[in-house]
Amino acid sequence: MAHSHSVGHSSSDTIAQFDRYVIPNYRRFPVCLVRGEGSWIWDAEGHRYLDFFPGWGCNLLGHCPPRIVEAVREQVGQLIHVPNTWYMEAQGALAQALSERAFGGQSFFCNSGAEANEAAIKLARAYGHEKGRYKIVTMEGGFHGRTYASLSATAQPKYHAGFEPMVPGFTYVPYNDLEAVAAALDDQTAAILVEPIQGEGGINIPSTNYLPGLRKLCDERGVLLMVDEVQTGLGRTGEWFAYQHAGIVPDVLTCAKALGGGVAVAVMMARPEVAAVLKPGMHASPFGGNPIACRASSAAIETIEADGLLARGNEIGERFRSQFEAIRAERPDLVRDIRIMGVMIGLDLTRDATDVVGECMRRHLLINVTHGHVIRLLPALTISDEQIDQGCAILAEVLRELVVQ
Ligand SMILES: Cc1ncc(COP(=O)(O)O)c(C=O)c1O
Repeated sequence: MAHSHSVGHSSSDTIAQFDRYVIPNYRRFPVCLVRGEGSWIWDAEGHRYLDFFPGWGCNLLGHCPPRIVEAVREQVGQLIHVPNTWYMEAQGALAQALSERAFGGQSFFCNSGAEANEAAIKLARAYGHEKGRYKIVTMEGGFHGRTYASLSATAQPKYHAGFEPMVPGFTYVPYNDLEAVAAALDDQTAAILVEPIQGEGGINIPSTNYLPGLRKLCDERGVLLMVDEVQTGLGRTGEWFAYQHAGIVPDVLTCAKALGGGVAVAVMMARPEVAAVLKPGMHASPFGGNPIACRASSAAIETIEADGLLARGNEIGERFRSQFEAIRAERPDLVRDIRIMGVMIGLDLTRDATDVVGECMRRHLLINVTHGHVIRLLPALTISDEQIDQGCAILAEVLRELVVQ
């Protein structure tokens, strides 16, 4: 068969192939990307782009981080996959590394954030089953995934439209509102599921008493506190996990995206007493915790530690903040708010910013806009000061041309 392999194709060849053979459920840039290194990425025509949003937050260490490339290369020649009916060294080592960095939790591995949240929701129901507790409280503007339970947990009607009915048992309350949570809890509530910082919702950072307040409510009412760290986890916010800024301990945590340094892997962690309700046969994932994914994830942890990247994340965030402050000084009419925690970065504009993505892309800078008016950047922890300044100069140039609507 001709054309089964894409090496040497132009972007337009690949686009034509997609038009015919790939379901069009994504809006894609008309460009085929072929190679990446750190915060740079190249298309099939050899154009180079500066990536302020590598892998939608999955490439926290940039494209092709060397330790991950090496770990995967070594593992792929040794053992690609074995199911969870066997013990695997790589999975045990990763589970220990995660437990040592997050509340002594035990891990269940799977492949995506939505799956990790499905596991958390099932665990909460199993844990609450005997007491008749099955309801989960989640927050408006949150995002937990596209599978049915994680979609039902996602309190944003636009994602439900056309797919109703949702899974029953979810109660939605406004984000950063402790009173609303207190009012929503009842004898049938099993858990609260919350993002420590809302990502897709617009980089929304709650007040410092929010997570401690949720912890207290959960303790008083016999409810599990489950933190969705799919986007915030593994060093994105300057700590291994964002809940650690709040000085609390959750009962359950989910993480994906950055966890594998660009390789697909996700985890649901739980306090051992809670995890104990999951007995053999109750939940499973054949590819979950496979040796390649686990070696990649352990290499990501090693990279962050060896290269001091948690502290570097805070420096990067502060450099973006000063660049954004300069933009705000120039255009106070345009900048509504600057929200930054480590390399989780939001620039909230007073007008729709959808066009900014395309304009930056034309100037070879890759960014994201969420909820229409928030420029969301999830840059790599390995980005250089020079790259930050270069990209911010492009962004400032594009924003300078924007008129307030
Ligand atoms: C906070 C949060 N939870 C869950 C998900 C779903 O993860 P996945 O897309 O890997 O299923 C996302 C994805 O963007 C997310 O940001």
